[in-house]
Amino acid sequence: MKTFMLNANVAADLSQAAALLHQGKLVAVPTETVYGLAADATNAAAVRQIFSAKGRPADHPLIVHLPDATALEQWAKDIPHAALTLAEAFWPGPLTLLLKKADHVDSCVTGGLDSIGLRVSAHPVLLTLLKSAQLAVAAPSANPYKRISPTSAAQVFATMQGRIDAVLDGGECEFGLESTIVSLVGERIQVLRAGPISVAALEAVLGCPVESPEQHDVKVSGNVAAHYQPHTALYCLSPQALLARLQTHQSQKVAVLSFNPLPVAPFWHYQMPDNALDYGRALYKQLYLADQSGAELILIETPPTDPSWQAVHNRLMRAAYQEA
Ligand code: TXA
Ligand code: MG
Repeated sequence: MKTFMLNANVAADLSQAAALLHQGKLVAVPTETVYGLAADATNAAAVRQIFSAKGRPADHPLIVHLPDATALEQWAKDIPHAALTLAEAFWPGPLTLLLKKADHVDSCVTGGLDSIGLRVSAHPVLLTLLKSAQLAVAAPSANPYKRISPTSAAQVFATMQGRIDAVLDGGECEFGLESTIVSLVGERIQVLRAGPISVAALEAVLGCPVESPEQHDVKVSGNVAAHYQPHTALYCLSPQALLARLQTHQSQKVAVLSFNPLPVAPFWHYQMPDNALDYGRALYKQLYLADQSGAELILIETPPTDPSWQAVHNRLMRAAYQEA
């Protein structure tokens, strides 16, 4: 299959993206978090192709991206008031709400679950596309299963070329980490995936506590232990352990993501920003480049542990996970 690169600034390309989606094709689209791999959410055959293009198991549910919050009632039922409050406060934006799915929604979208993930992205290109084409799209991150999520069109093209119909280039993603996922399905309101919107921000708007369990067994592919993985082995280390490792592995090609300059230049190095927001924005891109660099090992200086770094730690833990 030939994969077309479309430019979101060109009106004809935007129309072509809409036409492809209406024809049941797969188009990677920009969002403010990461690029998504979109298909018309009402077309079950198109949605099934997402799973084969990514190599993703069929029981891992997809997020449906809506043109605006008024579409919520078409996709979910028994919507609690708290969901409307969160939608009002954070949409369009990097927040996914898990709700009971409306009866008509095909279970291939939800991986067979009775719940559905919904979000209105703030990316102007995606908003324009969905509004003008009158579409809702199912879209997971546009990476092969378990691999690093893409934050640029070039990264999508490099890893998904030949498996999808088009990539719509809307520039680099603003946040660089996936949306915060909040479940409103059970008795309690729970964050199932940390993201750009913090627990504190959710609590401030809701006026009640929001749980953020370290571990949960809800079927979320972001919840599998090994995820967001480069091909190269990756370790997170304290600054001291990192320097010691560099000294003992002088003959190896090592890629390093650290906060401070290093006394000895390794094979590949990137100095990461020291605030969580900028770090999150840079993380997947630099992991991807480190992985491409030809290094035999990736070493990352472990970031601070205060709550603002929760989303970053969550990704690093899974990126560094080694199968036993
Ligand atoms: O920022 C994002 O959320 C990006 C952009 C493209 O919107 N999307 C994204 O999708 O990260 P994906 O599929 O890579 O991750 C979504 C996570 C998955 O772990 C999936 O299992 C979970 O959301 N999820 C979706 N619907 C769910 C449901 N009904 N119940 C439980 N988990 C759900
Ligand atoms: Mg993903």
